[in-house]
Amino acid sequence: MASKLEYMGKKLMTKLTTHDDFQGGTLTEITGSQGSGKTSAMLAFLTLNINKYPKEKIFFSNTYDAPIQFNRLSNYHLMVKTDSNVKVYDRKTHKEIHPPITYFTDFKDCYQKAKRGISNVVFFGDRTEWRAFIHYLRSAGEWCSVFVDEFSEIAPAQRSGDEWTAIEKFAVDLKEIRKCWINIFYNSQSKTDIDYRVRSKVMCKILLPGARADKGAICKQPLINQLREDKVSGNNAIIEFNNRFGMVQFSNLYQPDLNKVWEVRVEG
Ligand SMILES: Nc1ncnc2c1ncn2[C@@H]1O[C@H](COP(=O)(O)OP(=O)(O)OP(=O)(O)O)[C@@H](O)[C@H]1O
Ligand SMILES: [Mg+2]
Repeated sequence: MASKLEYMGKKLMTKLTTHDDFQGGTLTEITGSQGSGKTSAMLAFLTLNINKYPKEKIFFSNTYDAPIQFNRLSNYHLMVKTDSNVKVYDRKTHKEIHPPITYFTDFKDCYQKAKRGISNVVFFGDRTEWRAFIHYLRSAGEWCSVFVDEFSEIAPAQRSGDEWTAIEKFAVDLKEIRKCWINIFYNSQSKTDIDYRVRSKVMCKILLPGARADKGAICKQPLINQLREDKVSGNNAIIEFNNRFGMVQFSNLYQPDLNKVWEVRVEG
């Protein structure tokens, strides 16, 4: 039984990570309990994308005011919007640091200055700007991928007024990413923190230990509860895609570099 699940896992992973012009882009959700390896799994997909499609542009969205995640990869390209007051700090010394940064003025400038074959880590000064940036990417006309850590900050549940309307528009954009050759991978600890209209556009789910099965999902909770946790060789996960599911393992842990604990803040 396990080998059948593993076989299907491999098959679905290949499908998810192959850029097929007819199949188009995919919206992938990664969930699991705190520390189950959600960000690491996302970095694994990002690395795979770079290795397989080095000519594509890849964007990474990190949170503010918390230890950054993007430097768990040794190679990245930091990009900051001009006049956004975005600053980088060393969390241990509380001092501002100055890693190399490429500044950009608007989405077009950002896209043009983004490098191929590397993770472009972009800070607009406001995380919700990613909604408009993803809308902009619809007209890029080439394959590109976006990796969003802590997605509930971008499409939060239970918003009202203008924010509700903005998220409605974002849900429409997410419906179109397949045809626009955009891949989006996001992670969140709790799927209930994410707006239901956005979640309804999810095409592939990666379920790490502690994840909760959706009502009516093909992979049921008891199987998720049995996922093997292994802090050395990597946790198991379920991949649910195209009405099928299988088992995969994320063996690269992408440990944070504890000598470089940085955070990004918006001043003022
Ligand atoms: N696939 C994995 N299997 C086992 N352990 C892992 C795996 N990936 C990461 N880890 C370990 O778990 C720690 C947390 O990983 P990670 O930050 O990716 O989890 P997370 O789910 O994103 O956490 P958080 O909920 O805090 O955002 C890492 O420092 C690493 O030691
Ligand atoms: Mg994380």
